Amino acid sequence: MKKIVVITGASSGIGKALAIEYAKNGYHLSLCARNLTALQEVKKLCSNFGIQCEIFKADVSCKEECKNFIQFTIQKFQRMDILINNAGISMRALFNECDLEDFEKVMNVNFWGTVYCTKFSLPYIQESKGSIIGISSIAGYRGLPARSGYSASKFAMNGFLESLRTELLYSGVHVMTVAPGFTASNIRNTALDGKGKAQKESPLDENQIMSSEECAKRIYRAFQKKKRTLILTRQGKLTVFFNKLLPSWMDKKVYQHFENEPNSPLKNSKKSTN
Ligand SMILES: NC(=O)c1ccc[n+]([C@@H]2O[C@H](COP(=O)([O-])OP(=O)(O)OC[C@H]3O[C@@H](n4cnc5c(N)ncnc54)[C@H](OP(=O)(O)O)[C@@H]3O)[C@@H](O)[C@H]2O)c1
Repeated sequence: MKKIVVITGASSGIGKALAIEYAKNGYHLSLCARNLTALQEVKKLCSNFGIQCEIFKADVSCKEECKNFIQFTIQKFQRMDILINNAGISMRALFNECDLEDFEKVMNVNFWGTVYCTKFSLPYIQESKGSIIGISSIAGYRGLPARSGYSASKFAMNGFLESLRTELLYSGVHVMTVAPGFTASNIRNTALDGKGKAQKESPLDENQIMSSEECAKRIYRAFQKKKRTLILTRQGKLTVFFNKLLPSWMDKKVYQHFENEPNSPLKNSKKSTN
């Protein structure tokens, strides 16, 4: 029997690549995002692999929409095996300069979206003894300057998933936290600039970093091995390791790294302290 994987934020980037990866491996899909046109494209691609793909328009920051998405999935498939909490947005602004509404928005999508979808899915995942996967970030292990809301949301996700894994230790449910490093996607274009607007540019050369497809392949392999956590990219692994070992040295290193980005908001932070 084909298993059912539910993916939030599947219209772009890592979520879209995950949908294709699971379709290739014979899983049926239930996908959500806000952009239905983009989801229809993903459905077309995935359906080429001979699986059933259902799509649903939902904003994961809305509790009711998450509930409706999971109910829709159960109506279509009568079960679910894997939930991948992937939908996410980022930000790039100094805490001092960003609107609190943007901070809340990032928290609502990344953290609350994960909590809502997990809450409504849990009875079905317990029944199937399936998996709950959270796409967190290296920013959930190491606070990043000018991304305080993003880091806070990912630390919160990690804590939530770790608690849940422990609660479910003897239930047969697998819970995995994934921390991608820099991965080519749309996330930096849609990152909020602190004034409620998408920054519409990436400070990185997206061709020089891990592709979403590679990231999805590694997530799939880790899922098959029922890993507890997956930390991706060499830079990501080094960041997590050195942050445990030498946290104050890492403050300086991380500052330096983000100060050197094009149009870094940290340049303003130095100006305001001079
Ligand atoms: N790319 C990286 O470097 C990187 C690194 C570490 C972690 N991550 C994490 O990976 C996950 C996927 O991001 P990505 O890099 O693939 O970025 P992306 O290309 O921007 O994709 C984000 C996805 O989330 C969906 N989304 C955003 N807000 C949503 C909402 N309110 N409700 C439902 N869906 C929503 C978007 O769809 P719609 O706009 O259609 O709703 C889109 O499908 C995120 O959780 C991100 O934090 C990414």
